[in-house]
Amino acid sequence: MDAVRIYGGNCLHGQTAIQGSKNASLPILAATLLINGTCEIENCPDISDVYHMQRLLESLGCKIIRDGSLVRVNTEGLSECDMPADSVGVMRSSIMLLGALLARIGSVSMEYPGGCVIGARPIDLHLQSLRKMGVVTEQQERGFSARAVRLQGTVFRLPFVSVGVTENLLLAAVLAEGVTVIEPAAKEPEIQALCDFLNLAGARIEGKGSGRLIIHGVEKLTPVRFRVPADRIVAGTYMCACMCTGGSVFLKGAPAQDMESVLACAREMGAAVECAADGILVTGPACERLPGVLKTGCYPAFPTDMQSPFMVTMAVSGHSGQIEEKVFENRFRIVPELLKMGADISIRGNTAYISGQGKLHGAIVQAEELRGGAALIVAALAAEGTSIVINRHYIDRGYEDIVLHLRNLGADIEHA
Ligand code: EPZ
Repeated sequence: MDAVRIYGGNCLHGQTAIQGSKNASLPILAATLLINGTCEIENCPDISDVYHMQRLLESLGCKIIRDGSLVRVNTEGLSECDMPADSVGVMRSSIMLLGALLARIGSVSMEYPGGCVIGARPIDLHLQSLRKMGVVTEQQERGFSARAVRLQGTVFRLPFVSVGVTENLLLAAVLAEGVTVIEPAAKEPEIQALCDFLNLAGARIEGKGSGRLIIHGVEKLTPVRFRVPADRIVAGTYMCACMCTGGSVFLKGAPAQDMESVLACAREMGAAVECAADGILVTGPACERLPGVLKTGCYPAFPTDMQSPFMVTMAVSGHSGQIEEKVFENRFRIVPELLKMGADISIRGNTAYISGQGKLHGAIVQAEELRGGAALIVAALAAEGTSIVINRHYIDRGYEDIVLHLRNLGADIEHA
């Protein structure tokens, strides 16, 4: 069955190695399309979204060889082909192929991208911005096509910060004619990783992490070997699991430098957090107090992807608090499921009011998206009794074998 059974109550102890980042590896895999030859991407997580991205690249004529966490992408056979609609539709990152394919072969036709249903998630700003670079687009009910003779560098003053738009414009701009300026650019560590990858391959991107990216177009890029950084959201999820259950876990390889807002929140809630060069040691529980109002936002603010695991941590803390979700309008989808487990949470507009009464009980609950699904597992680990989390496939999109990782830390958890 597509589910996980958890017998709650065990403290977590030990060490877990943090996988490579989903949201860094997906745009980097898309970026290999810009380079003729074979790129080697190390530390690629073994998750279903990466599998779908590999499948999309293969459908475009690339040859992919996976050897453990090393993925080799040979783009010599790249051509414009139909991409499998199920892989395009399952994840948001398929939109990354747009900028890369326009830059490399000047023409794309695809279905609309999918991804977690956490808000409307339109692609209007992607298409509108690319049109400014000389792209002609045509939208149909189920998909769209786009073409360009040669992309033209331009100055963007975007109406808001978008991770995906910043990535797509980077991919379009590195081989474009002239200079492109992206402002405000997203500063997320995953975007910085994409800049590092592209610059290593010969791109000329300035301003990484600054909110203003300046890209000088170059004629071509050359194949490179690149290591994907560790996944800060996966690290944060295991951190919440430790805080909710008590115990002490070393998150090996966790990128402390990219997790400041999350670590600050964990410390404020009473967890002991020690950062070392090779990871983070977290010791729970986290039940001293809650941050006044936890507000999500663009990096370096508190990440929306960590909102659900922290909601669970608050719900078992014994204190009351609030979360204001400022990025996606539909990211409280776990609340009805947490209510089934005995949580006391109400929602008004984009704010969740959490009365952390300290205890949850086991229940059958349903994951409806990736991070919310992982957060339900965290809740079940802390709950008294047995829980079943249905729809494990959402969680598999972003977490390498979460059952095995948690079992190795002492959780009583199994596939169901
Ligand atoms: C990326 O999504 C991540 N996905 C998300 O992670 C993450 O939650 C999000 O950035 C914010 O950090 C990947 O990297 C694959 P946005 P993205 O464009 O690029 C609106 C996870 O769980 N918008 O920064 O889709 C949009 O609706 C996932 O790993 C438009 O209106 O995020 C949202 O409200 C979930 N029009 C806001 O901008 C557009 O054309 C920010 O979204 C594009 C976006």
